[in-house]
Amino acid sequence: MARLGVLTSGGDAPGMNSAIRAIVKLCAARGVEVLGAEQGYEGLMGGRLRPLSPRDVDTIGSLGGTVLGSARSKEFMRPEGRALAATRLRDAGIDGLLVIGGNGSLTGAHVLAEEQGVRVMGLPASIDNDLGCTSLAIGVDTALNTIVSACDRISDTARAHRRAFIVEVMGRRCGYLAMAGSVAVGADACLFRERGKPEEQLVAELSEVLRRGFGPERGKQMVLILKAEGVEVPTENLVSRLQAVADAELPGVDVRATVLGHLVRGGGPSYYDRLIAGRLGAAAVESLLAGHSDEMVAWQPHTPGGLPTWDPAVVRFPLAQMLAETDALLDGSSAVTRRRVRMMEATAGVMAL
Ligand code: F6P
Repeated sequence: MARLGVLTSGGDAPGMNSAIRAIVKLCAARGVEVLGAEQGYEGLMGGRLRPLSPRDVDTIGSLGGTVLGSARSKEFMRPEGRALAATRLRDAGIDGLLVIGGNGSLTGAHVLAEEQGVRVMGLPASIDNDLGCTSLAIGVDTALNTIVSACDRISDTARAHRRAFIVEVMGRRCGYLAMAGSVAVGADACLFRERGKPEEQLVAELSEVLRRGFGPERGKQMVLILKAEGVEVPTENLVSRLQAVADAELPGVDVRATVLGHLVRGGGPSYYDRLIAGRLGAAAVESLLAGHSDEMVAWQPHTPGGLPTWDPAVVRFPLAQMLAETDALLDGSSAVTRRRVRMMEATAGVMAL
């Protein structure tokens, strides 16, 4: 094998560039050329491939976003698009493709392998931490650090004015960022779609959190509620309904909301994201060169299981298995989701203290 391709696809995640750097450098050490496709599968189908040398990646490891660009490609979802991508890879003499991305991107990689016989290796990258078989995806740690620092700032101003804040964080189908973030910042409550509570119940529970927090016995200066984007009840509904409770029972208490949105996806990667991206990148290259394909490298420093790579903290899972586990993670049937929900429920009464 003399030439590999690499692309980043779907929502960008801090650490994607650190993974590209590791891939390019390890390939150079093994005498393998690397071509990077621009804008994910779109660029691949369009033949927009450029050589990447160690010199090209010297300064990218600390950058957020992705220097290759990213996209969500509709055309690649069709067999004609995938056939075109396979032709481009063959024409460029690429023997294996590294795909850095989330659920949709790795589904595309799996279909490309099965349908077109392309050799692929996936690297998990999604700030949402919504991928099966890996304890963390590239980007999650940085996103959580951003959430923590944003919540700390919001808490400063909330405390000054005796306010309750609902902070909405990304996570369309997975509430991990809200869950982990709320524990890290010591929030009073956490809302996530995995629990699927109706609006009435949410309002009743949060009203109680406000009453206890601002009530004379506890006398808090602020209440902080983290909400995952995927919770169906709109944030503005919660704000207006909680404000009505405050107006009636808690004089002087204001209820406000901040939606962090894409702020959480940008920024230079944290130490941990650089570390895992580098190690996943290196293990992905070694795995492809060793002849493995249609798999994803996963960050599993403690959990037994999976097939070994040269890095003891990185294991390989067949993409089909990983995608099935991702579905289970998102529909709530996975043991991982059940454990997350159980732990959040166990801490709900404690968080509000
Ligand atoms: O990267 C995943 C994610 O952050 C989701 O939480 C969010 O809903 C989505 O991306 C939004 O991405 P975009 O605005 O780029 O479509």
